[in-house]
Amino acid sequence: MSIENDLALISDFDKNYCLQVFLPLPVAFVKGKGSYLYDTQGTKYLDMIGGIAVNSLGHGNPKLTSAISKQAKDLIHCCNYYYIPQRSELAYRLCRASFADKAFFCNSGTEANEAAIKLARGYFHYKEQDKFEIITAEKSFHGRTYGAMSATGQEKFSKPFEPIVPGFKYVPFNDIDALKLAITPKTAAIMLELIQGESGVNPADVEYIKEIRKICTEKDILLIFDEVQTGIGRTGKMFCYQQYGVTPDIMTLAKGLGGGVPIGAMLCTDEASKGFKPGDHGSTFGGNPLACAAGIAVMEYFGETNLLDNVNQVSVVLFEKLNKLKNKYSCIKSIRGMGLLIGIEFDDSIIASGLREELFRNGFLVSSIGRSVIRIAPPLIITKIQATQFVKALGSLLSTRMGAKPNPILNAIKNIGRKEAPAVSSLSEQKPDDTKPALPAPDDEDDF
Ligand SMILES: Cc1ncc(COP(=O)(O)O)c(C=O)c1O
Repeated sequence: MSIENDLALISDFDKNYCLQVFLPLPVAFVKGKGSYLYDTQGTKYLDMIGGIAVNSLGHGNPKLTSAISKQAKDLIHCCNYYYIPQRSELAYRLCRASFADKAFFCNSGTEANEAAIKLARGYFHYKEQDKFEIITAEKSFHGRTYGAMSATGQEKFSKPFEPIVPGFKYVPFNDIDALKLAITPKTAAIMLELIQGESGVNPADVEYIKEIRKICTEKDILLIFDEVQTGIGRTGKMFCYQQYGVTPDIMTLAKGLGGGVPIGAMLCTDEASKGFKPGDHGSTFGGNPLACAAGIAVMEYFGETNLLDNVNQVSVVLFEKLNKLKNKYSCIKSIRGMGLLIGIEFDDSIIASGLREELFRNGFLVSSIGRSVIRIAPPLIITKIQATQFVKALGSLLSTRMGAKPNPILNAIKNIGRKEAPAVSSLSEQKPDDTKPALPAPDDEDDF
């Protein structure tokens, strides 16, 4: 029996046999290529959310898929009793690309944060200091397991599951005075996202982060950046801390690192690494050859192509065009974020989840956060043309919603899922970095 292309059966099985913790849209994707996803009917969607910032290289990237299939043929799993060449290489690559001296691998963002929280407490335990409190930000999101959930400054994620892990304090984001007040002699770490992704794409202020670094150094407090969503090129630099010019002691990664293959990583300085001795932490699957081969392919791809240039160039286009929309439609309150992690906030006249569904019906995939924010985090290979198509579609929907004359573009966009356009060179409009080959053009590109 195969249910692969039968949406009714797929959703029926889901409702009957899967734990109902998600609220999926009525669609199942069975194929992806570049920045597009294809559903069971062969309908095509422009993926403006990239598996929530995961599909960094897009769908079906040949380098990534061949690295995974080669590794799958050679060796999928090998336990941590032995050296693992791919783990050694990925650790080396990540440390070379960042502030870090050491890497630990796991399978998800929440596990990377568990490792970071444990490491911070272990560090002071081994220094024989009674420091265990961890300060995090209100509206933060660090994951669903107990440590990471307890670090998360949003009660809605933990309330039904109390008691949470003790020792966490939450302070208003971007409020340095509140943070200073929360510090005590028992403070072990300050843990922050540089851009709060899950609560509406809210970036930290540069001065705030610089001041925190100073305080951490002065008071012997470990600084943890949760770059699960912002890391691996998402913001236009390899890591978001590089945008701030502020280096943490510990950083967590996941999402984009495997390009879709589950992997998490906790990176730290040699000094912070003293928080774990052999046997203190581990993971059966973490650092396995398959996931690390994916991570290596992703890291290599950055080195071999102009992917970061592409992020920055498409980001400029998106911000420019979205800000034009904002000037035109008063229902848009703000456009914020960095690189290809962007939040579009609306006033009360727009319900973000409804707009997300309308975009979906028109062939565009985004996420909605709370009542008012649409988040986009497309594959980093997205082109300016594709980004422009998305903004046009959004503008058209807003124009019809706001009672203006229906825009003829909308009809063209409605057909996005139904027609295959002739291939065009996607990056021809972009000045490539001379030193690196341009990204391979996707096989298809709609031409409106
Ligand atoms: C900043 C941040 N940290 C941690 C997590 C948890 O990652 P995962 O879902 O891989 O456990 C997320 C997920 O959205 C995140 O955005």
